[in-house]
Amino acid sequence: MSRLTKVLFHLRNFNRSRISYLETHLCDHCNLNCKSCTHFCPLVTEPTFTDLEQYTRDIQTLSKKLAIRTIRLMGGEPLLHPKVNDFIRVTREAYPHSRIFVVTNGLLLLKMPNDFWETLRQYRIRIHWSKYPPLKDKFSEIEQRIKDAHIPYHGGDANVFGTFSAFGSDESTDLKEAFKACHNGCTNLYRGKIYTCPACYVFRANNYFHANHEVPEGWDIYKYSGKELQNFLNKPISFCRYCHHAVHPKSFPWEVSKRKAEEWM
Ligand SMILES: C[S@@+](CC[C@H](N)C(=O)[O-])C[C@H]1O[C@@H](n2cnc3c(N)ncnc32)[C@H](O)[C@@H]1O
Repeated sequence: MSRLTKVLFHLRNFNRSRISYLETHLCDHCNLNCKSCTHFCPLVTEPTFTDLEQYTRDIQTLSKKLAIRTIRLMGGEPLLHPKVNDFIRVTREAYPHSRIFVVTNGLLLLKMPNDFWETLRQYRIRIHWSKYPPLKDKFSEIEQRIKDAHIPYHGGDANVFGTFSAFGSDESTDLKEAFKACHNGCTNLYRGKIYTCPACYVFRANNYFHANHEVPEGWDIYKYSGKELQNFLNKPISFCRYCHHAVHPKSFPWEVSKRKAEEWM
């Protein structure tokens, strides 16, 4: 980086508000469908891809308002998107200095073409690989593939899952307590709005189960300033009262979803 670029970068950063973390869906559907998925992906009945043009506008707009330390491209399963390379490119162009990950269950990693690996290298992208039990026999082959491509990666064991919500329960968690316990910054960008956490996808449960659960508020990234967006994200939302996971974690061995409402309760 030249001195001038550095100065311009610091000036731009100085003017922006900042958040530590953002995640976003490249598609809402998944090829694994975990029980109690916090993104409600098993309840997405049709392939649902994020539109590249809308995403490009969103991420470019956000980049003028908020500096972000870590961005994770996920879903659903992001490798299902035929334009995954383009999402990577526009994210890196909007955020040249952030840590950017593709978060994947690894099911498709061995089938990804060379241009995918080349794109990861070119745009300095890391892989977060969630290691699920059904792929156990392939772990070493997948790991070798990532290493051969010289991509920095984190392999996270995903054999224990948790449920974060208490829909349909009379219990209510103290908002501040829940927010404080969970707030590791799971900000989600979805279709022009940012949300405090992936509970924003609860609308999938409403559609699938014909239910009427409260849907967390989202904030229009075109309407609000960076400071306002940052302030919204720094406070509990009323939906936090359903979140028992952070305060009283309940976990169980990973399994495939049977698409039962109880999985999210
Ligand atoms: C929703 S997945 C989407 C990305 C990709 N399909 C994957 O499986 O890594 C993102 C991350 O959330 C984790 N996750 C989702 N629901 C969870 C739950 N109920 N308990 C623990 N981790 C969960 C997954 O294991 C994964 O690491």
